[in-house]
Amino acid sequence: MNWLYDILMGSNRHIGYWGPDTDPGDAPEDRFTDYLISHLRPGAGARVLDVGCGAGGPAVRLAKKTGASVTGITVSGEEVRSATALAAAGGVGDLVRFEQVDAMKLPYADGSFDAVWAIEALMYLPDRAECLREIHRVLTPGGRLVFSDYTERLPLGPAQRETLAETFRLNELSQPGQYDGILAGIGFRDVRRHDLTEQLQRTSRENDRRLPEKMRRVAEEAGEKFSAHYRDHELRASALEHDYLGYVVVVAQSRRE
Ligand SMILES: C[S@@+](CC[C@H](N)C(=O)[O-])C[C@H]1O[C@@H](n2cnc3c(N)ncnc32)[C@H](O)[C@@H]1O
Repeated sequence: MNWLYDILMGSNRHIGYWGPDTDPGDAPEDRFTDYLISHLRPGAGARVLDVGCGAGGPAVRLAKKTGASVTGITVSGEEVRSATALAAAGGVGDLVRFEQVDAMKLPYADGSFDAVWAIEALMYLPDRAECLREIHRVLTPGGRLVFSDYTERLPLGPAQRETLAETFRLNELSQPGQYDGILAGIGFRDVRRHDLTEQLQRTSRENDRRLPEKMRRVAEEAGEKFSAHYRDHELRASALEHDYLGYVVVVAQSRRE
């Protein structure tokens, strides 16, 4: 299904951003990556872990913009291959590498990374707290964590839960603010939460507007019947995003020792 995600989302599998301090000439999804970079603030040479790296767009942009070296992890071998090719094509193959690793069991030594980000990835994990504990372990003391996730902004009824399961393959989202206690319990400090629900809603409106063109490309690849089915799937997902879901960006620092 990678070809489908390539058509629908390209190499950035996250929301867009329309706001100050980003270049209006860039794609909205790249502007969101830049917004996250402005929170992560890694220096040149910093070691960054990208948890749930997807097709690699954010990791490649992070390395190009900051000179940081990035390790991207995903459960998908297909994503490792396409993200590695993207980094090579982007001229940062020496700074960025991708590995097939489970985010809840990181095979890295304590204090291996100066910063960690996880963009729309924690929500897919059966044990988000375990992943956050692992992230805290592999961060250097005082290292920074930035992550973004969908939240359940309004209570979902059975019909919305069914849509969430079918379109996002998710059974449960966190409540806004639910991460605060988990992070504090693990030892993160200076936890700041930013509500980007308006950016999510704008993204879903833009996706609806761009849908006919994307579905034309899906039809060329997989036929009219599949395209019509998937168009319905996408419209249900965007209605759920617009009416019920929220979006947070969380910034925190690991405890100093
Ligand atoms: C919506 S994509 C986000 C991709 C990317 N962060 C971006 O913004 O373009 C979710 C990612 O989480 C990854 N993922 C899901 N479960 C995982 C796990 N247990 N360990 C590592 N990665 C996981 C998926 O493979 C995918 O790369």
